[in-house]
Amino acid sequence: MKKNYEERIRTLLSKMTLEEKIGQLQQCGPSLVGAFDVSFDELLNMMFDGRITREEFDRLMGTAEQDFHEDDLRAGKIGSYNGIGDSAAANRLQKIAVEETRLGIPLLFGYDVIHGFRTVTPIPLAESCAWEPKLWEKTGRVAAKEATAAGVHLTFAPMVDVAKDARWGRVSEGAGEDVLLNADYGAAKVKGFQGDDLTKEDAMAACLKHFAAYGAGEAGRDYNRVDLSVQRLWEEYMPAYKACIDAGARAVMPAFNDINGVPCTVNSWLLRDVLREKWGFNGLVISDSNAIAECVSHGIAKDKRDAAKQALLAGMDMDMSSNSYVECLKELVESGEVPERVLDGAVEDVLRIKFELGLFDHPYQTNEERESVCMLTEESRAIAREAAVKSLVLLKNENHILPLKSDAKIGIFGSLAADKGQMTGAWAIGARPEDCVSMVEACQERGISCQYSEDGKDMLKIAASSDVLIAAVGEMKEESGEAASRADITLNREHLALVRDLLATGKPVVVVLFNGRPLAIPELAEHVPAILEAWHPGVEAGPAILDVLFGDVNPSGKLTTTFPAATGQCPMYYAHINTGRPGGKSKFTSKYLDAPVEPVYPFGYGLSYTTFAYGELKVEKKEDAVWVSVSVSNTGERDGEETVQCYVQHVAAKRVRPVRQLKGYEKVGLKAGETKEAGFMIPFAELSYYDWDMNKIPCEGVLRVYVGGDSRAELMEEVVL
Ligand code: GLC
Repeated sequence: MKKNYEERIRTLLSKMTLEEKIGQLQQCGPSLVGAFDVSFDELLNMMFDGRITREEFDRLMGTAEQDFHEDDLRAGKIGSYNGIGDSAAANRLQKIAVEETRLGIPLLFGYDVIHGFRTVTPIPLAESCAWEPKLWEKTGRVAAKEATAAGVHLTFAPMVDVAKDARWGRVSEGAGEDVLLNADYGAAKVKGFQGDDLTKEDAMAACLKHFAAYGAGEAGRDYNRVDLSVQRLWEEYMPAYKACIDAGARAVMPAFNDINGVPCTVNSWLLRDVLREKWGFNGLVISDSNAIAECVSHGIAKDKRDAAKQALLAGMDMDMSSNSYVECLKELVESGEVPERVLDGAVEDVLRIKFELGLFDHPYQTNEERESVCMLTEESRAIAREAAVKSLVLLKNENHILPLKSDAKIGIFGSLAADKGQMTGAWAIGARPEDCVSMVEACQERGISCQYSEDGKDMLKIAASSDVLIAAVGEMKEESGEAASRADITLNREHLALVRDLLATGKPVVVVLFNGRPLAIPELAEHVPAILEAWHPGVEAGPAILDVLFGDVNPSGKLTTTFPAATGQCPMYYAHINTGRPGGKSKFTSKYLDAPVEPVYPFGYGLSYTTFAYGELKVEKKEDAVWVSVSVSNTGERDGEETVQCYVQHVAAKRVRPVRQLKGYEKVGLKAGETKEAGFMIPFAELSYYDWDMNKIPCEGVLRVYVGGDSRAELMEEVVL
């Protein structure tokens, strides 16, 4: 039963001065000072544009002190911090807030716990390939236990931005291109992070992000404009955010981008009409980093004061590190431009989450002793390994080159096979490279006969004494994540050259891909006999990859993003519309002259070491739903898991509908020779859509139902609604 804190909130608010109210809306990160006479951001720019070397940057950083602005804290001007990842620092600051400020309001500590804290699990795009909400919740729980031990109260996750353009680097941070999977992924993470009682010391509040449609940025360029129909916004993006709200997420982070010309940061339709009024959300709305001040760059605010005014009026409660609120709100309220009741509303949201987290009763929810025993436990490593194994997607396995024999002599090539730090992927800010186990290390630990060459040196010699050659290629973790869009998503030249050279030796070649986005790999798909998609799999990377390569585990991962054949096809996604001239052989159809119509690997695709066959598909119209059932058999020699996928196509509608939409999936464990039934109940409400005038209308007429092991499933039955 959720407690009601409203009386305590109102009583506290009535005691607060204007300055103290504004202070509660200020979140700051520890800024690095003392080592250089420019701002930290400027120092970063100086490194990125080559004015200082990386070594110079690291040297300066090494001498930097972290400034936690204690004097401002004592004066009641800070309500929250971002990025404090250790209990000693958190408790020291909390003590100042609780004991040295006038009202003793506790601090809220936020942190980007995106895919693990110390026990780094696979990047979200990888973990989404498990198609397993229970797993997603389980890894979220591990993350919460570790992060809260380090003093974290709020994580800026889950990120559920549907991403259909592989050029965008942040496709790595969510559950891919499908709205149902992002919705299920987000809801599971919220439950994992928050647990069943937010006041518990190992519960942390979830902050869904980035609200909204950040993944629809034009040209796959980060922070870019989002201009799309309101119909598509509601049908293809909003359900994922709503699922997190329905799962109980207590915070929301509006996105950097604009939607149809109005930046989310100052978009009152989004933050008040939809989030508060329509969805009934009464939690915290916290800006993205510096986003309020950046409304000036957007061209929607003439200065920081105008940005602060617009953001607060639009429903933005807390200012992450732009200082717009602390610099401008006092004067805005005193001048009457911003009614104090609007400010009070924002402060109430901040106080509410602090009460809900139990911070007023237990401001010190952890200590160094708890922190020292919580990290990287055997249990959490085992869960990380399970998640990594289930995230791996077997893309190709010609002539059953995989699984390898336990006594196989292998040659491993490429820095990614040994570079532990690369295994964490993007947004693993609490990670330590030494915590990760690389492929090469895992081979050594298992006593596998393995020769390793980082750059292909001694290739012929190694090939001559090896049964199989493994190429570890793909992307460095810095090539995906925030501000990491790529205009060319093919494999980089050095990696492609390495694979070509290995193929030229004539020995069997296996490619293990480490990447944070779909890559355009038509040449690998054509010439390499076996390809395993490993993404950036976290601390248990090496052991998990060898579990699959040597057949200890039968791979079950399925892609949650489409792999295009060429960058020029982006955005490329399965739930596309048919057009009047669907791409085909004849000239006047919707296609490219210089690229195939089909992707290299489609959404939902993934191989197994066994084979599956689908039997009779039954589709029945019930009173308020469509019931789908199908039999699926394991027709191979070893046990395995098949993710049965159910897609629909509304054949003739008031607006053209996607050729396929995922409406259900079920991961079915099957022993060799076993057959089971899989069933899906699809409520009519989940088939409705918007007409031209934004009326929500039911699906009527012929509905095609496809079931199979990926989005190209041909097994189909029709039903008339
Ligand atoms: C970044 C990201 C956001 C993250 C925030 C806080 O700019 O956009 O996802 O949570 O800053 O670190």
